[in-house]
Amino acid sequence: MTKQRSIIIPRNLTNFSAVANLKIREIDLDGIDRCIISFVGTSFAEPLPMIALASDLRNLRTRFPHVTYVCRSRETAFRGYADHIGYFRFLGFSRGNQIGDASGSGNYVPIHLFDINKLKANAGDEPYGKIVSEESLRLAEVLTQSNKGGLFVAVEYAIREVFRNAVEHGMGSKAALLGQYWPTKEIAEIVICDNGVGIAETLKDYYDTDSPIDALSLSLNPGISGTSDLEREHQNPYYRNSGFGLYTTSTFCAEHGLFRVISGDAGVTRQSNNLNSHNWSFDGTCVQMKIRTSDLNDSAAKIQRIVEKGEEEAGARLSASTASKQTSLA
Ligand SMILES: Nc1ncnc2c1ncn2[C@@H]1O[C@H](COP(=O)(O)OP(=O)(O)OP(=O)(O)O)[C@@H](O)[C@H]1O
Ligand SMILES: [Mg+2]
Repeated sequence: MTKQRSIIIPRNLTNFSAVANLKIREIDLDGIDRCIISFVGTSFAEPLPMIALASDLRNLRTRFPHVTYVCRSRETAFRGYADHIGYFRFLGFSRGNQIGDASGSGNYVPIHLFDINKLKANAGDEPYGKIVSEESLRLAEVLTQSNKGGLFVAVEYAIREVFRNAVEHGMGSKAALLGQYWPTKEIAEIVICDNGVGIAETLKDYYDTDSPIDALSLSLNPGISGTSDLEREHQNPYYRNSGFGLYTTSTFCAEHGLFRVISGDAGVTRQSNNLNSHNWSFDGTCVQMKIRTSDLNDSAAKIQRIVEKGEEEAGARLSASTASKQTSLA
């Protein structure tokens, strides 16, 4: 007789805890033949928990490859959206659009899945930052439906710096991006993740930290980089890693919304002047950025001001001009 187990996805997949509470990483499927992932009761979902669930389910499939995974759903607003953006394909099920099929609209960027090794190969002799910048421009245009203005500048900067990190530091094979724009709420949300080694791992040889949360918090400070001085000397001066990408992006997003990063076994959120930590896990690094679309007219100048303040804090050593200190690299 077939032995099966079901994982019931909650009605509202609207925060990270909704996924963490499922404790998928602790599930043991030894002796189980079929695992049913049930979206039957799910009616609403947001990008971060969707990406988190995908990561946990991938982890489950890797741990228990002998199991047949089955997806159950019914006609809901969630399924329409998930079908359209290629979410079920992203989870490894054959329903809905293929990843990258939908072209996107003013309200969302469908799931984009990047093969990091291919991206690196395509970069040829150019720095990875250059090819990532080109992709980021394209994605920011889809999400903001514009190629200029304060919202575009902010979104392009945020996507570029976080995506660049996934490629330059993550050491994973895949990066994914999911974006959404809620005009009525005046909020744009971007989630970018990779399946790499995580932030604490890349910093551990250079900084003494007591816990994964400390390492994550440290990475948001100006001038903190897992790139050694020797490596930096050999980098292209424009794309050189100076430890400003996460600091600048998180400061900007905290002032205009929210910045959250979950990496390895820790998570932190910056919002206004607060930094909160979470006992969450992600296989790799996942960054969530929410940006209020009002009050962004001078975002280029604002980003520059944040950079200057960071340079003062970090000291003159890291003041050389780099990509993470520039907006609109077009
Ligand atoms: N996705 C990631 N995977 C692994 N490590 C990461 C990731 N993102 C950031 N890091 C670590 O955090 C450090 C700080 O990142 P940050 O973007 O602030 O600086 P940087 O990339 O070193 O320099 P810059 O952004 O100025 O080019 C990185 O040097 C790296 O060690
Ligand atoms: Mg960076």
